[in-house]
Order: sequence, then C-alpha cells, then structure tokens
Amino acid sequence: MAPPVHAFALVALLSSMRIAFGGDPDVNAHPDMQSPSITGCMTTACHGSNVPDAKNWQRAGKIWFDTDPHARAYTSLLTDTSAKIVSRLVNKELKRTTPISDEYRQVLDAKCISCHSNENVSESQRVLGADCQVCHGSADAWGSEHYSSEWKSLGKNRFEGTQRINVESIAGRAKVCASCHVGELDRKMGQNKGLDREVDHRLMAAGHPPMYFEFESFLRRYPIHWDTQDESIELGSKLGMERWRVGKITTAIAKLKLLAARAERSASKSAQTADWPELTEYSCTDCHHSLVQPSWRSTSGSNKSTIANWDDWTVSQLDCAVRNQSMDELNSQLTRLKKSVEHTMPEPTQVASIATSLKEWLEMELNHVSSPSENSAEVMVLKLKSRMAGVDSLQNWESATQWYLATRVLSEGIGILGSKAPVSFVKEDPFVNTGTWLPKASNEFDSPRNFAPNMLNDYSTDLKRQLQTRP
Ligand code: HEC
Ligand code: HEC
Ligand code: HEC
Ligand code: HEC
Repeated sequence: MAPPVHAFALVALLSSMRIAFGGDPDVNAHPDMQSPSITGCMTTACHGSNVPDAKNWQRAGKIWFDTDPHARAYTSLLTDTSAKIVSRLVNKELKRTTPISDEYRQVLDAKCISCHSNENVSESQRVLGADCQVCHGSADAWGSEHYSSEWKSLGKNRFEGTQRINVESIAGRAKVCASCHVGELDRKMGQNKGLDREVDHRLMAAGHPPMYFEFESFLRRYPIHWDTQDESIELGSKLGMERWRVGKITTAIAKLKLLAARAERSASKSAQTADWPELTEYSCTDCHHSLVQPSWRSTSGSNKSTIANWDDWTVSQLDCAVRNQSMDELNSQLTRLKKSVEHTMPEPTQVASIATSLKEWLEMELNHVSSPSENSAEVMVLKLKSRMAGVDSLQNWESATQWYLATRVLSEGIGILGSKAPVSFVKEDPFVNTGTWLPKASNEFDSPRNFAPNMLNDYSTDLKRQLQTRP
C-alpha cells in the first residue's frame, strides 16, 4: 500500500538526519537545528529504542516510523494521485520530478503540508510527514523537565500552561485528530497563526480521497505507540464507548467550528470571491448519483427546495452521546442549523451564528459528561433501544455507518452479542480493512457502492432482541 517512494525517502532521511534507532545519540547532527526537530527525541535512551521488549513509550519512534500512517503522509504527496490533484488545482499538468519543481512545491506548501506534514519544520524535515509534533506539540516544548518527577507528579493537570499538547485525555486527543481529519481554519499556535487545514470541494473535485472520520474506529486502527494500561484499568470494557461518546461530541464541535469559520469568511468577502456555500458541507451523494438505477440514493435524494442535505456524517447518532435531558435541546438546535444551511441561498452570518451557538452548547455538554459514570452504558442502551424501531429507515450510508459504529461499541461495552460480533452491512467492513474502503474507481465521491440497507436487518434484529431482555 505504501508508495515506492517511501522506502527511498526513508533511507535518504536516515542518512541525512542520522536518526539511528539503537545508534548513538547525535542530537547536534541536524543542520536545521533552529527549527524544532524530533532528532533529539529519538535517542536510544528516550523514544528511539529498537529493543523489541522495551516499553512502548521507549519504542514510540520506531513504531511510528515503521507503522504509522502519518509517517508516510508526506510521501503521499509525491504519488501519481497527488500529482494529478496538484495539476488539477493549478489547471496545468505538473510532473512530479526529483527534486520537485518550485511550482509543485508551492501548491503543497499552500494546500497540503498543514495536514500531510509539519509546517513548522524546515524543508528537509518535511519528508517526515505528520510527525510527533503535530500531535504532541513542538519538540522545543519537551525539554528535559518532561521526565522530571516534579512534572509527572502534577498528574492529569500537568499540561496546563505548557506548549505540550495533551493527547492523554480522550477529549484532548480527539480534538487533535479532528483538526486534520475534519479540518480547522484560523488555527492558533502560541503567538502565531497556523496554516489552514481544509479539504474543500475544490480539493475533492481535484481528486482528494473522502474524509470520513470517526474517532473511535480510527483510533482502533491507529498503531498505538504508548502503553495503554491506565486507560483500560480506569474504564474497562466501557473504554470503547467512552471514546465513542467523547469522540462524537468533539468531532461535531470541530465540524461546527469549521462551518462557522467558512461562513464568517464568506460573509466578510464579496459574493464573487467567496466559495460559498462550501459544497463539502453537503451530502456528496445528493448531487453525485450513481448511474445504476434503481439505487438507494434515488430515494434519499435532496428535496428540491433546498440546495442539498447537510452532510450528517458527523452529527448522526450524536444525540446518543449527550445526556438524556439534553437530547431535545440538541435536536432542536440541529434542526435550526440544518434549515439554515440547506436553504437554497444560505445566509452566512446566520449560519455562522447558529453553528457557533451549537458548538458552544456542545462544549458545555462535553464538560457535563466528563465523568463516564454520568452517561453510563445503560443510558446509551435506553436511547438506542428507543430508536431501534426506526432502524429500517436508515436509508443513507452515512447514518447507517454511524449507527453501526455506535452499536458496535455499545455491544462490546455491555457484553451483548458475545462472540457474534456485529456483522457488517457493507460487503467489506470499511472500518476494519484499512484501505479497502476508499473507493478507488473514478467516482471517488461515492459512498461504498456495496451499501445495502437490508444487510443491516440481521444485525439489528439480533441487537434488538438482546436489548429487550435488559431492564
Ligand atoms: C497533522 C494532521 C493530522 C493529525 C493531527 C492526525 N492525522 Fe491521521 N492522518 C493525517 C493524514 C494526512 C493521513 C493520510 C496519510 C497518508 O496515507 O498519506 C492520516 C491518516 C490516518 C489514518 C489512516 C487512514 C486510512 O484510511 O488508512 C488513521 C487511522 C489516522 N490518521 C488516525 C489518526 C488519529 C487517531 C489521530 C489523532 C490521535 C490523527 N490521525 C491525527 C493527518 C493527521
Ligand atoms: C485538512 C487536512 C488535509 C489537507 C489540507 C490535505 N489532506 Fe490529503 N488527506 C488528509 C487525510 C486526513 C487523509 C486520509 C483520509 C482517510 O483515510 O480518512 C488524506 C489522504 C490523502 C491521500 C491518500 C493517501 C493514501 O494513503 O491513499 C492523498 C493522495 C492526499 N491526501 C493528497 C493530498 C494533497 C495533494 C493535498 C494538497 C493539495 C492534500 N492531500 C491536502 C488530510 C488532508
Ligand atoms: C497522530 C498523533 C500522534 C503522533 C504523530 C505521535 N503521537 Fe505519540 N501519542 C499520541 C497519543 C494519542 C498518545 C497517547 C497519550 C497517552 O495516553 O498518554 C501518545 C503517546 C505517546 C507517548 C507515551 C506517553 C505516555 O505517557 O505514556 C510517547 C512517549 C509518544 N507518544 C511519543 C511520540 C513520538 C516520539 C512520536 C514521533 C515519532 C509520536 N509520539 C507521534 C499521538 C501521536
Ligand atoms: C450541491 C451539489 C454538490 C455537492 C453536495 C457536492 N458536489 Fe461535487 N461537484 C458538484 C458540481 C456542480 C461539480 C462540477 C463542477 C466542479 O468541479 O466544481 C462537482 C464536481 C466534483 C468532482 C469532480 C468530478 C469530475 O468528474 O471532474 C468530484 C470528485 C466531486 N465533485 C466530489 C464531491 C464530494 C466528495 C462531495 C461531498 C464531500 C461533493 N462533491 C459534494 C456538485 C456538488
């Protein structure tokens, strides 16, 4: 799956940066020491161990280098697919040369590296892709005091007031992932402004693959380089549910923040220059139909009096993640937002203000339920039970997939369905077989074409039956 350039890049990198696993610490070797570098993190005594039975935190660098999708994120910008994307963006054919041309590089710098690499490192280090620092904060902030017992003794609050990013808390972690996997504009990095992280319809139309992010399932697939005991001990079998719930709310917050920022920008520009409404806010399949008829999409298409349906990927099943007493409020705010976004001529100031207030409300909600016991599995069971009846009407791939992911963590969390793990309703479970679900064919905007709503039935019937026997 990794493009062939990867191996080449790795060798070049190892020799130019002298990151040597198991080799001598060589912190001063890099020519670009003025920009933050992870070289110092990778010594054998720190995170660059290659001893197989060392702790994960010691092998973090090695695990990341060998298996992390983010380590190949930059080299993905040098593949044929990317060369096509880049060419379409500038409307002329740009070949990928070695080294890449200035023109090619300018597109990557402006449109891609904020997510596929680390914009703060020097040119020569970009090949490292989305490195340690995009998730953990600048290496400069991780001075020697981070292994002092004093810092450790501060416990969960030890990140406060530092430039080190807290990915230890589930919410903090989800927020970091969503910044790239959902997108973020107007980023702040200390005193500075960060580059935008956005895959808009222009990028999609140029051929960027779909961005269907769901925190819990992504984390499951993510090759972890840390030691997981603490988290598992604290939450036990409820860990998946907790990640699902917090991830759901945090991802929705990120999505609303992005929508509000897009709307605000367009409100401050003239109508001609603004990309508004931004089409990736809507359900792709409302506009891009399959040519094969009859299709499940033709029954779920958008109402003619609206531009298209707002993309409900991030918000579907969100009401199961908030407290019981908050469901009605959430649903009414969502309805208001949907109405505003789906209007044939959505009014940006109005969209921005509704999205922002819902975002702020969700931030409060997240604080309310920061303790897992408050929103126990049983609460989720009740909510899901009450909507079981409506399962047959999950006519779109987005909500069906989200429903499946929610009930999967639920059934694990409360120990139902036992060894009979939830079956998938697409012929290949998109979230288990990494890579197989990205439609490779020409129409990349399609949801998996194998989606068959009736395949949900067996699974739902079973789940319904088992839930009914619970109090
Ligand atoms: C700086 C941006 C950035 C951040 C932060 C980030 N990712 Fe990613 N992620 C990417 C990019 C870009 C790719 C695509 C890599 C490639 O194949 O080129 C990716 C790929 C992945 C993949 C593989 C997807 C697939 O379809 O195979 C997983 C899983 C993943 N990320 C999980 C996470 C998780 C979990 C977090 C948070 C802990 C996270 N990511 C944070 C940018 C980011
Ligand atoms: C907002 C962050 C973001 C930006 C900006 C972005 N990407 Fe991505 N890209 C991602 C993520 C996240 C993935 C992984 C999607 C997934 O699997 O869920 C990805 C995946 C890809 C892939 C597929 C990689 C693979 O392993 O199959 C290619 C190719 C790609 N991006 C190229 C580009 C190019 C070229 C640009 C700039 C023109 C760009 N991307 C800009 C976030 C971004
Ligand atoms: C995609 C995001 C991401 C990237 C990239 C990443 N990490 Fe992590 N890292 C995490 C998350 C999430 C955790 C779990 C935090 C926790 O539970 O303490 C973690 C944990 C760790 C830990 C263990 C902390 C502890 O207290 O147990 C170390 C050490 C670490 N990372 C080092 C690195 C190094 C070194 C790199 C680069 C080679 C790197 N990470 C790249 C997300 C990332
Ligand atoms: C409101 C309707 C609408 C929505 C929603 C929409 N698109 Fe489009 N899309 C268009 C139109 C019109 C074009 C052709 C003009 C252009 O390229 O902008 C297009 C072009 C494209 C193309 C290029 C097709 C080609 O043959 O060149 C791709 C790929 C694409 N869209 C993907 C997506 C994805 C992915 C989504 C969802 C995230 C999406 N679109 C949502 C209307 C839409």
